[in-house]
Amino acid sequence: MSVFRDDILAGKVAFVTGGGSGICKGITRAFLAHGAECAIVGRKADRLAEAAAELEKETARACLAVPADVRDPKLVEAALDATLDRFGKIDIVVNGAAGNFLCPAAALSYNGFRTVMEIDTLGTWHVTRAAFERGLRDRGGVVINISATLHYAATPLQMHASAAKAAIDAMTRNLALEWGSMNIRVNAIAPGPIDDTEGMTRLAPKDMKDKLEKAVPLGRFGTVEDVANAALFLASDAASYVHGEVFVVDGGAWLPGMAGAFSMG
Ligand code: NAP
Ligand code: COA
Repeated sequence: MSVFRDDILAGKVAFVTGGGSGICKGITRAFLAHGAECAIVGRKADRLAEAAAELEKETARACLAVPADVRDPKLVEAALDATLDRFGKIDIVVNGAAGNFLCPAAALSYNGFRTVMEIDTLGTWHVTRAAFERGLRDRGGVVINISATLHYAATPLQMHASAAKAAIDAMTRNLALEWGSMNIRVNAIAPGPIDDTEGMTRLAPKDMKDKLEKAVPLGRFGTVEDVANAALFLASDAASYVHGEVFVVDGGAWLPGMAGAFSMG
């Protein structure tokens, strides 16, 4: 049962990269359940089609699967055009497509670094740029970039993803500065550790779960719904004056620093 009114996104069309799985599938589900129509993007056409069918069945709203690799601007443009053909407009863009893996910088190849930068940072720009030309510039809209907190301090074995997400935060603020006058609201969400996601499976082995959860001030990992609620808020008119913000949804996970050395009682 949602805490939001179920029509807060009525009449809106959202384009969600990474919407076929994990956090962004949860965001798509929430958008559909609150009145939007959605297009979801990923490389794996079969998984994407399955996700769209599942979400349509669950919410009784239209969800279009548009396979594309966000690294290729031409494929991104084709995916946006297919969305416009189907729904006539795009009001909300969520840039969630990303790649990550654990690797010490000393072992990371040129191409390993490039690959993560291309998916996360360039992919975010390709989608945002092409959506700008396909309606955002003339009609306004909302962009939500999915970032992380990796780069607030430094995260072991994730130099590549930290650099990519730091660039996304910079892009978020600069686009907010330049595009606010066109009524394009640009924000980001920085999730912390979110349970039952590919990100956590790859980056935090299951045997570390108890220890890691204890380190989160709220004492638990987040849920996909926690992030989806933040996205719903940012996409809705409730956030009409929220602009250029990176909205951290992490249960306080990035805060502790050296706090472990002190007694908090
Ligand atoms: P996920 O399920 O693996 O989501 C990543 C999505 O991106 C997948 O649907 C994947 O689909 C798509 N994708 C990857 N490369 C792509 C490409 N080149 N072109 C188009 N789509 C591509 O992982 P998640 O854990 O839910 O992460 C979702 C987002 O949250 C990411 O931006 C991640 O950095 C961020 N985040 C997650 C956590 C966490 O705890 N999970 C924490 C902080 C931030 P295909 O494989 O089909 O392409
Ligand atoms: N450690 C070190 N390097 C790695 C790696 C790992 N675990 N996984 C991939 N790489 C390197 C590869 O070796 C390659 O570099 P090389 O050509 O110098 O050998 C480069 O990264 C590209 O790998 P490739 O498998 O060709 O990339 P891809 O485009 O098929 O897939 C990834 C992109 C690597 C990011 C893949 O993990 C992916 O598709 N991820 C999406 C899902 C995801 O990461 N979800 C979590 C989001 S937080």
